[in-house]
Formats: sequence, C-alpha cells, structure tokens
Amino acid sequence: MAHYQRIGHVPPKRHTQHRTPEGGLFHEELMGEEGFSSDSSLLYHRGLPSAITHARTWGLPDLSTTPNHPLLPRHLALHDLFPDAESVRGVDVVTGRRLVLANGDVRISYVVADSPSPFYRNGIGDECIFVERGAARVETVFGAFDVARGDYLVIPRATTHRWLPQASPDGEPLRAYCIEASSHISPPKRYLSRYGQLLEHAPYCERDLRVPTSTLLAEDVGASADEPTEVYLKHRGNGPSGVVGTVHTHPYHPLDVVGWDGCLYPYAFNVADFEPITGRVHQPPPVHQVFEGANFVICNFVPRKVDYHPLSIPVPYYHSNVDSDEVMFYVDGDYEARKGSGIGRGSVSLHPGGHAHGPQPGAYERSIGVDYFDELAVMVDTFRPLELGEAGRAVDDGRYAWSWVGGRTEPGA
Ligand SMILES: [Fe+2]
Repeated sequence: MAHYQRIGHVPPKRHTQHRTPEGGLFHEELMGEEGFSSDSSLLYHRGLPSAITHARTWGLPDLSTTPNHPLLPRHLALHDLFPDAESVRGVDVVTGRRLVLANGDVRISYVVADSPSPFYRNGIGDECIFVERGAARVETVFGAFDVARGDYLVIPRATTHRWLPQASPDGEPLRAYCIEASSHISPPKRYLSRYGQLLEHAPYCERDLRVPTSTLLAEDVGASADEPTEVYLKHRGNGPSGVVGTVHTHPYHPLDVVGWDGCLYPYAFNVADFEPITGRVHQPPPVHQVFEGANFVICNFVPRKVDYHPLSIPVPYYHSNVDSDEVMFYVDGDYEARKGSGIGRGSVSLHPGGHAHGPQPGAYERSIGVDYFDELAVMVDTFRPLELGEAGRAVDDGRYAWSWVGGRTEPGA
C-alpha cells in the first residue's frame, strides 16, 4: 500500500540509534519489495530478526495438481471438504488449507479451522485470505487484526503472523478462502494515481482499508519474549509444485516489534465496503475488480442494482474469456445466472479459457425486468491455465459441464 503508516515507537531519523529504556539498541529491519525499489517499511525489533537456532523440513500437505484435461467447466463443492465439526477439529488456517486450484502464478486453497495456527510466513508471495464465515484474530509482526465474515486480509510476502479462530457472532466456524500469489497483490493499478493514491473512480478508498491495531504485540509477549519459537516458512523450491516448507526456530518470540513505519504492511478490507459500479446495460467483470497480482485478478460480485436500460438483460451475455480461466466462489445470496446448475453457497465454478460460458438455461429470460441481484461471489481470473489440486479433485461434482443442455448429466449423453 502506498499510503504511509506509523505505529509504536520509531526514531525521528531512519537508520539511526533507537534505544531501549535500558540503553541497548533495538534492531532495525527494512522489509521492502522489488530490490529496494518499491514500497517498504522499517521495523524495530527487540531481538535479532535473522537469529535462528534450528531448522527442519515442513512436510507440506498434498500440493500435486492435475491438468483440466479433457477441458471441462467444473463445479467444486468446497463445503464438502469439511462436512462436519469432526472434520474441523484440530485444523488450523496455515497447515490445514487444502489445495483446490493452482498454477505457477496463484494457488487457491480452502480451510475450515477451529485451532490456532503456528507462526507462519509465506516467502513465495503475498496472500489474500477471504473470510467466508466465522471470525479470527490475526497476530502479525505489524500488529493485530480482528477479522470476520466478508473480510479480505492482504498479507505481504514474508510477514510473520498466525491465525487464532474466535467465537463468531454468526456461530459459524472460521471458513477461509486462501489466495496465495507468487507475486505481490495490490489494488488495480488503473485505480491508483501515479503516486499510489486510490482515485475517485475506484470502488473503494483508503478509508475503507483497516490497518493493524496500534497496540504492538511486543508489549503483550511478556514472559514468553525470550522463549524459542517455531515459525513455519513456505518458500521456493524445486519440487513439482515449486513450493516447499521449512520450520525455523527463533530464539525470541517473533512478534517483538516495538514500532514500524512505511508503506508496506498487511491490511483488511470488507467486501461490504466495495461500492459496485453499475450501468444501463451489462457492465463487464473488470468493474468488479478489487485486487490484482501478476497474471491474475481478484473481483467481487456484491449485492447491487442491475442494468436499468428498458430492454436490458441483467444476467451476463455468453462470453469466451479467451485469455483467462475464471474461478467463481459463491459466498452468499442467490446467484441468478447459475440457477439449475447445482451451484450454491460454498461452490466454486471453474470456467476455463477456450470454452464459452454464460447463464444456465432459462436464466437469461428470467432475469428480464429484475432490478436487484442479491449475490456475493469472489472471482479469480488467471491468465495461465489452472490445474486441479487434491481438494478440487475430491469435490468435483462431475456434472456441471452438461448443465447447459437441459439436464443431461452424463458425458457424451
Ligand atoms: Fe464469466
């Protein structure tokens, strides 16, 4: 994020002595992107941020992928991955996420969690975690967040943090849709001024973004400040997925920052604060865009008034997004265009590039005269083809591809 933030104690001049009350020195860490040539922050640690006493392998869950071949549109019922309380017991957001779809640019996972995660940092790219249901406290080296239903949390690469599920007002467990980039995730560049401010035509602005609480966790660590602590690190490797894991033991509690300032930090944004852009005739998906990474975009379809031309057809026209694979995650409401397809809350549809898609039979006609869509969906469009992860393969309904031909449900029927 381009706008400057400052939390806790920092010295008046960067790269100068910052002393503890006892006269020692805090340790300055610059966390910056693109080789000292993009956004950065300066963090002041009690301990040495590079100090480790042990390293071991972290055996990551199954990250294998299978090509979408023969090419098919697919319906993946994510809620079936964690069908009951027993399937969630002991699961955490970091080690329990299951891979749904992936390519070299982005990995999409899903998890329902009831347990605290270990400390974790993703050394491959930024993460954007969408909280479908439930609530959590997320403790980071920049401070903490309280997140709940509808929140995106954008976490910069290599940010040490952990997820602590909380009791939620909706009584639901913590359900997280995890978008892991191999790059950085930011607001769309067309919505930013050349200095990085969100422009007037953007569907959200800086006031809608939540920064970490001003209480830094170094103050709360207390007796555990000097206790060795494990941090799970996901990083680049030569395996089939290009992703491997290591667990480092640090001699100090990793959330030991007493102050930081700069333009690189995690932030939260609630999808309810996205102001939809509407028109007399159908608006294309880019108006729904909320974030972007290298070779993919993230969009959200929020409750909104729909097309108001007297002859408009509010559901989308059939479309071939010839350069993209489209992944829609259906979060809430009543998804008009997909009626009759079996898709409901917790579903993912995959519409691959090279195949035209659009409303199911009858939806086109039914939408005429409708003036409001009560729907909430999060979409990821990738410019390179996606493959199916183990979770995607496990909950593929096998029927969706045939849903445009009036109920025939078998391949070749
Ligand atoms: Fe589409």
